[in-house]
Amino acid sequence: MAIPRSVRCQAHLLPSILSADFSRLGEEVGQVMDGGAQIIHVDVMDGHFVPNITVGPLVVSALAPLVHGRSGYFSVHLMIERPQDYVQAFVEAGADAISVHAEASTHLQGLLESVSALGASPGVALNPGSDLSRVLEVAEFVEFVLVMTVNPGFGGQKLIIPALERVGRLRSALSAEVAIEVDGGVNRDNIRQVIESGGNWVVTGSALFGAHDLVAETRALQRVMVGEATV
Ligand code: DX5
Ligand code: ZN
Repeated sequence: MAIPRSVRCQAHLLPSILSADFSRLGEEVGQVMDGGAQIIHVDVMDGHFVPNITVGPLVVSALAPLVHGRSGYFSVHLMIERPQDYVQAFVEAGADAISVHAEASTHLQGLLESVSALGASPGVALNPGSDLSRVLEVAEFVEFVLVMTVNPGFGGQKLIIPALERVGRLRSALSAEVAIEVDGGVNRDNIRQVIESGGNWVVTGSALFGAHDLVAETRALQRVMVGEATV
């Protein structure tokens, strides 16, 4: 189901399962939720739109009882060609929010409307080099915008600092009801900067998974994110 406005407009740390240990995926998702994460980020890559292949609806449906059973949500990031062919399968699998890349969509507005009609929160995702006008043109049809702060395809890359300035420009231009998801290269050292630039859904993959104590690391990153602790 769509992510309610009350949840959507808060600051959230979104663990990206791309960097999880897939042999212990359910266990690790449970641990980040124990640490307070409420929205799980799922990276879907097809080997065409980006040079990597990851997971499909099967993984969302396998995790759905765990995530929804604990009042959590999925933000599914589609880095695929022909996203219109797959949104229904992801919603049926349990996706609560779906972002589609402006660069991959020929009829973006219609696709966002179809995500809404299926009962999920529609979002538009934008690569670092793409023009922000692509987002502004469809602003009234989205509940969130995903700003890439790395070029999509792989976890563990370095955040492109000038991309944060784009987050600020979008924050000023968009209604307060539209969440801004910032994705790529976020770590303890820059997570506060991401929030200060105007992002409120903050994705972290490699900076979180791999920690010795995932529950504690999730809590620690969230505290730095909201300014309750310093690095
Ligand atoms: C990259 C993905 C990101 C990635 C983030 O294409 O969209 O969600 O998992 O990973 P880190 O936090 O390691 O950059
Ligand atoms: Zn992502």
